[in-house]
Formats: sequence, structure tokens, C-alpha cells
Amino acid sequence: MTTTISNLRIEHRQDALGIGASQPRLSWTINTASREWKQTAYEIEALDANGSLRDQTEKIESDQSVLVDWPFAPLSSRERVSVRVRVWGSNDNVSEWSELLRLETALLSETDWSAEFITPVWDEDTTKSNPAPYLRREFQLRTGISSARLYITSLGVYEAHLNGNVIGDQVLAPGWTVYDERLRYQTFDVTTMLHEGQNAIGIILGDGWFRGRIGFAGGRRNIYGEHLALLAQLEIQYADGTSERIVTDDAQAWRAVTGPILMNSIYDGETYDARLEHSGWTLPGFNDSAWSPVRTVEWDLETLEAPLGPPVRRIETVAPVTISQSPSGKTLVDFGQNLVGWVSITVNGSAGQTITLRHAEVLENGELGTRPLRFAEATDRYTLKGGGMETWEPRFTFHGFRYVEVTGWPGELNPDDLHAVVLHSDMERTGWFDCSDPLLNQFHQNVVWGMRGNFLDVPTDCPQRDERLGWTGDLQVFSPTASFLYDVGGFLQSWLRDLAVEQGKSNGSVPPVIPNVLGSAFGAGAAWADAATVVPWVLFQRFGDAKILADQFESMCAWVDHITSVAGESRLWDKGFQFGDWLDPTAPPDKPAQARTDKAIVASAYFVHSTNLVAKAAEILGRADEHKQYQTLASEARAAFAREYITPSGRLMSDAETAYALSIAFDLLPTPEQRQRAGDRLNELVRESGYHIRTGFVGTPLICNALCSTGHFVAAYRLLLQQECPSWLYPVTMGATTVWERWDSMLPDGSINPGEMTSFNHYALGALPTGCTGRSAV
Ligand code: BGC
Repeated sequence: MTTTISNLRIEHRQDALGIGASQPRLSWTINTASREWKQTAYEIEALDANGSLRDQTEKIESDQSVLVDWPFAPLSSRERVSVRVRVWGSNDNVSEWSELLRLETALLSETDWSAEFITPVWDEDTTKSNPAPYLRREFQLRTGISSARLYITSLGVYEAHLNGNVIGDQVLAPGWTVYDERLRYQTFDVTTMLHEGQNAIGIILGDGWFRGRIGFAGGRRNIYGEHLALLAQLEIQYADGTSERIVTDDAQAWRAVTGPILMNSIYDGETYDARLEHSGWTLPGFNDSAWSPVRTVEWDLETLEAPLGPPVRRIETVAPVTISQSPSGKTLVDFGQNLVGWVSITVNGSAGQTITLRHAEVLENGELGTRPLRFAEATDRYTLKGGGMETWEPRFTFHGFRYVEVTGWPGELNPDDLHAVVLHSDMERTGWFDCSDPLLNQFHQNVVWGMRGNFLDVPTDCPQRDERLGWTGDLQVFSPTASFLYDVGGFLQSWLRDLAVEQGKSNGSVPPVIPNVLGSAFGAGAAWADAATVVPWVLFQRFGDAKILADQFESMCAWVDHITSVAGESRLWDKGFQFGDWLDPTAPPDKPAQARTDKAIVASAYFVHSTNLVAKAAEILGRADEHKQYQTLASEARAAFAREYITPSGRLMSDAETAYALSIAFDLLPTPEQRQRAGDRLNELVRESGYHIRTGFVGTPLICNALCSTGHFVAAYRLLLQQECPSWLYPVTMGATTVWERWDSMLPDGSINPGEMTSFNHYALGALPTGCTGRSAV
């Protein structure tokens, strides 16, 4: 029976080109038919670019196969190495060598960059959206190109072309981070796209998150700066050992102009006039003499980082299910699935005709239900150039939609004329669920689609309205589910770094959205800001990466220290701003924070929980002093909680489901008797509600677990399988294909909830009740 190694990989990445770590950790998967087999040792070999042995380890006695430390000297920038591993099992048989993993470092130091950021010289009125700039240059290459790499990023989002072809398959790069501290660049192998003689590179820049309008209630423009800019460094190696660089600078060779993209906005959509295209602009020989020069822009190159997680890609396409006329005579396309991305069209018509695509998640009275989008226009416009078939899709926007209203289509619209393109961060799927109940299976599908739509580079609350922000609370409650469904190690590691950066700017307090575009509009509420402690811990549990704990430790401590200072001597977190058990279904539509569980109970419970997690992290990291310090603090906060909110017989001062679920899940009840009594009371409340859910963001992920762990399995199942409103399955019975923001985002009569905050794609309430499977929820 042979043992083989597969899936050799580095850090939390699926590919190994352009890595930012000089000592990347290695993981591998062992395939063996024997259940008894256990790894006892491994050996790693590194080969250089020519395939000669460069380094090798001894046989290392270890059972580790996840994130094993780099065993060789640190790599330098642009270094190319192939590694392979073999392992020994308990019977001392050695496996075959794994396949070679070719890894290549990116630019590890700011001094590796000779490129500078460039921007067009023309003036813009940056109080509004401006046409997208097109930048290009040509260059001559010698014979004998052996390899070429493009290192590239932008202030704004970009699409890059070489000699007539788009480079790579990423969209909306470089994504969204706290740009002024962390700006990611991409590395592309462009060897086969170049040739001897004249070549051309062309890049389009979009407003994206950098300077487009972001935020609700009108939002803000130019959050990170007013001018879009490009940084590109093309490095060419020749077979004779020489090399050459083409970089962005203010040389005359770089030219800029605007073109067909008249407007682009994450929320509002894209307006494209194909008559303004610059045909052949990314090919050599194009006449750009009428284009403008560029100028350089100051930007701290120390902010540049290689990505930790996967890029956003086009993941799949979805064909229309029906095309119909609305009561008012509009053409409506139903894609059968609420999804996130955009629509690609193929059309034949006359020049100057404009097709308008309006997107929405639901219909109301048979028409597009756009009220929930608030100030997001979610509209794409394409003006034809005429003269044959034209295929187009936007580049610098995305929409959350199931339905599209199409106007201006020449002739009859057929299903083959358009399809939806699903976009999200290209994470590896790792978790599935299936059971005998079709409604529960559909709910699971809805959770997966909700996650896909909201993991578009940043973990967002929702993907469709004028919001789409990295709300910490939503992710905090959903992180155990997310990391069950997909490998989110790199994706969330990156987001946590931004969290720490924003926290650093807020004196240890954690802003409610990361990246923080809301300033200090909201305070740091429990369950939201606790993402700082919970998410690193969840990632550690799911992916075994203690380095994430080490990297985040300072942020975790700073957050708990912040609560400690707010709580003071009482050890009760009962003051300051709180969201509470947000969207408890008994709260009125316009008062989502008016929950049945007291906000101070939620906050003080999270104080204990977060402090415990910091103590546990300290223990894992071998930090004995901090372990002791936070353990003591946690017991003081736990005792204070019990004194203030728990009766001697195990009742809670808020006699509501979330209060009991929190106390049970976070182990806040001092005695086994009180714990059981709390579980029994929770059971009574659930029965009293007729097995309808009465929890919001905070209690929902915990309630089934709390019921099961106190012996009330039947109640947990009845709650889970309830179909009447409010319940997990009610939206499924209403035809939902994603998880809704509110238990009743759509009311039983088919009308949209009157609340001004109503999305049909929010993952928070889809945090799967894992308790019944025996898995802990946090
Ligand atoms: C978001 C939520 C978020 C909440 C906090 C909403 O607008 O969509 O999901 O957590 O605000 O107040």
C-alpha cells in the first residue's frame, strides 16, 4: 500500500508565484489507505531554477504537516525555488517524493522598486465621478527573452493588457485594504505575452474603493486620495543573463487618455460608450501622439505588500431562467439565483443605441424592487458602436442581484444574449452539508451563496446597497461557518491585519467596519469589536495557524485592555455605545437595536469571552505572564457578570433567549445547577415562542448549541426546522436563494420589509447552528 503526498502548498495560498514571505511555511496532504498510518518524520528538498539540488533537510522527526517552518535560509526577492517533500510513517516506510512545488518570491523590499506611481496630467473635478484613464507605453525588447514578470498595483482598481491581451484573470485588483498602510501588488508571469521587437502595455484605471463614493447616507468620495495612479514594473530576463526593466515613470513614452468608460462606481455601476474605444491601443504601433503625458505621484512604497489571500475572479456564469414582461411592460431577466457579479451581454445593433441594465435582488408587485438599494444605482449602460456582434461586461463595479431589467435592447432579447458572471475571492471550498430535508439543504445552499457574494476581497455585510462594508460583527458571528465552508485562512489573515491597523489608529478601540470608512461615527460595540479576539481564535482552531494568533496578539490584548478601561473596577461592560442583539425579530423595523436582551448583558458576556480567548492565546503562544493576567481578569469579569445578571437559581436578568444562549455558550453560569436551570429556562422560552426564532445577530449562532449542550435537542431541532416566520427556513419557503438580513426581509404577503435597512444577502443570520452536530459554535 503506497503513501503519497499531494497538495504541497505554502502559507494560506493556493499558488506560489509572487509570495511576500522570505520563509514561507509549507503544508502537505498525505494520502494513505491505512487508518493507522501516522507521519513520524519528513524530509524537504529544494532545487534551484536549473533543477539542481540547492538545499536539503535531514530526516526530521515530526508529525507536523501543516504550516511547517521553512527549513532553509531566508529567500531573497525574486528567488525561484522548487521544493518537494517525502514522509515516513510509523512502519518506517518512506513515501515517494511529492511533486515539485515551484515557488517564487515577489519584491520583498521597497528598494526593489524603481517604478514610481504615475497619473495623467489633466485636471479632474473629483467631486464627481470621472471617465476612466487609459495609460500605455511601447518598448523594444531584444531577442532571447527567457522570462518576464510584471509587478503591478494601483491607487484605484486596474485592468492591465500586454500586446492585445488582458494580463491574468483577476478582477477589481488590487482589491480593498487600508491603502495608506497596506497596498497589495500583484505578480504576473508574462513571459509568453512578450516578444522580440516592439511591445505595448496598456492599463485602465477605475475609481474602485480608492476614490469612488463609499458609505451609506450619501457616503464619501476620495477617501484615500483624489487621483488614480498606476505602479508597474516589468522585469525581463534574457537567456544571455542580462535583464531589463520597463517601469512607470514620467518619461514621454507613457501616454494617457480617457475613453469609453465614462463613469464607474462600485455602487452605481458602469457607463460605457463603445464608440469611444481606442481600437488597438494595447498593441504596438498604435498612434498615441494625441494622448497626454503623465506625472509621478508621491506614495510611500513601504505600504506595498504581496497578497496573503486569493484574488477576486470570475468564478462561474449563470444563464437566465426566464425573460418576461413586467406589469408595466419592462423586460425582466430572472437568473434564478441571487448572486454577486455583473451581466455580460452580446448584442448586434446600430451605433449610438444605449442598453441599460438595472439590477435588483427581488421583485415587488412584479417590478424590480430597488428600494433596498438605497443610494446605489446599480445600473450599467452600454452604448453600441454598431457594425456587428459586440460583447461587453463592466470591469469596475459589481452588483448583488437576481433580476435585471433591460431597456434599449435592439429587437427581441433572447436567453443566449446575456449571462450573469459570478465574482468573488477565489477561495477553496472545504465544507459541505447534506441531509434528508430539502428545505434545510436549500438553507445551506443559501448560506454558501451568501458567503460567496460577501467574500469579495473584504468580508462584507451585504453586496448590493450603498454599504458593502467590512462590518466586524457580521463576520465575527459568521467566521466559524465561513471557515467551515471555505479555506478563508489567507483571506481573513489579510483582513485581520487591516483590523489591527485601523485599531492602531483608534487607540485600541476597534472600528465597526474594516477598512474603516465611517470614522468615529459609531463606538466599539460588543460582538462587533470582539472580532479582534474571536476571528484570530477561530482561524487558529480551523487552520492550526498559531502565527495568526502571534501576529494578532497585540491587537487582541489592546481590544481587551480597551474594554477593561471602559468597564473599570466593576468589571461590567455596561456603558457606552452598543449594537446589542441586533435585529432581534421582536424589534420594530426602524429600531433594529431594540432587542429583548439587555445590551449590557451582551457586552459584559463578550468581555468575559474575549478576555478568555486572549488568555488561551497567550497560553498557546507560551506567554505565561499574559496568560495569568488575562485569566485573572476573565474570572473577575465572570464573577461580576454572575453577581449582576444571574439569580442564584440560574435565571437571567433579561429573561430572553439571547441572554441564556450567551451565558451557556460562554460558560458564564457559576454552578452546574445554574447552568442546567438556564438551559431549561431557554427551552421553556423557545417552546413558549412556538419554536420561532427570537434572537438577533448575537444569539442566533449560539442558541441551538446552548439548547443541545443542556440536553434540549428536540427544541433545537424544532427551532431549526420551523418554517413559519420568523425562522431560518421561512425565507426558504418564500423562495430565497441567499440568507436575508432580517428574518422577514420579505413579508409573508410578498412585500419588502418597510425598514430602510433591508438586504436579501446578509450572511450573519446564516451562521449555522453547529451545536447539534456537537461542534462548538465559537
Ligand atoms: C449592516 C449590518 C451591521 C449593522 C450594524 C448595518 O447597516 O448592514 O449588518 O452589522 O449595520 O449597525
